[in-house]
Amino acid sequence: MAEVESIEHRSAAGARVADALDVDEHAPVLVEELLAALEVKAEGWYCDATFGRGGHSGAILARLGEGGRLFAFDRDQQAVAAGREKFGADQRFGIGQAAFAGLEAALDERGVSRGFDGVIFDLGVSSPQLDDAARGFSFMRDGPLDMRMDTRQAQSAAAWLARAPLEEIEKVIATLGEERFARRIARAIVARRSERPFERTTDLAEVIAANVKTREPGKHPATRSFQAIRMHINQELEQLNTGLEAARRRLGARGRLCVISFHSLEDRAVKRFMRRHSQADPMYAGLPMIPDAARPTLRVIGKAQRASAVETARNPRARSATLRVAERLAP
Ligand SMILES: C[S@@+](CC[C@H](N)C(=O)[O-])C[C@H]1O[C@@H](n2cnc3c(N)ncnc32)[C@H](O)[C@@H]1O
Repeated sequence: MAEVESIEHRSAAGARVADALDVDEHAPVLVEELLAALEVKAEGWYCDATFGRGGHSGAILARLGEGGRLFAFDRDQQAVAAGREKFGADQRFGIGQAAFAGLEAALDERGVSRGFDGVIFDLGVSSPQLDDAARGFSFMRDGPLDMRMDTRQAQSAAAWLARAPLEEIEKVIATLGEERFARRIARAIVARRSERPFERTTDLAEVIAANVKTREPGKHPATRSFQAIRMHINQELEQLNTGLEAARRRLGARGRLCVISFHSLEDRAVKRFMRRHSQADPMYAGLPMIPDAARPTLRVIGKAQRASAVETARNPRARSATLRVAERLAP
């Protein structure tokens, strides 16, 4: 749950990790664990659904031979531009702008018919998204209240907050932010917007902070609400479910699905997805013949993994990261 807060309070040590890994603005988490889980094959085909600034992509490319391929995507055009600049000259690499919901269409457009040896998701926001005040994700930096990962999308946070019914605002902040002062905050937002609409991040952060009546150590009082609004604006949980399903369909036999999440609701969705597809359809429980369509398609690999103490000391963002891995069973 501490994703926004921990990225925003990134230590200088975290930035040094990024330098050491040669990614300019985002320190990737759980890199070694992810590589071990992927068991990268030199001639394998991989998909990175959340390119960001390519920390994980770069680590995979470093292990690929000439026949290997990496198809990367991100819904954020700045991430895609960074990918083209960083790896565009590498024949084994391709990148396109796509959200999880458009992943399969993007793969079809590129004519990718071979099953992947691995698909990775590293969820949430990147440090460059948070660090750029103009993107409107940060309660620490004054900027327009935007929060869209894909700026072609119609509805910004400001537009939603200007029109959403009180109950909807309360529900989003309560469920996605797990914020106990959601009702107070929603009421304060609705009262304030009737005088003047919210346009700036710090303006919203101040109204929220004034209505959070207790303080969590080391956490800005607007952390939970900002995270919730961002997840709502980008439909992050809905996207995740579609993306996981797309990845499952696109994995080849023994291909690995690796998902890093930073939020308890995301992690629960990943865990449930992997569990659901690693069991036979319960409708056929106890029956001697199970039709192919009802057989499990995934095998869960190991337990959820967390970052080591060494990594979390260097990169506070890693504190809330969880990696889950599953393998595609042969059809
Ligand atoms: C934590 S960052 C990934 C960092 C990356 N692994 C690296 O090492 O630089 C998450 C990225 O996923 C992207 N993203 C989040 N949700 C997405 C979605 N539904 N579809 C596509 N990209 C998404 C964000 O735009 C962001 O760039």
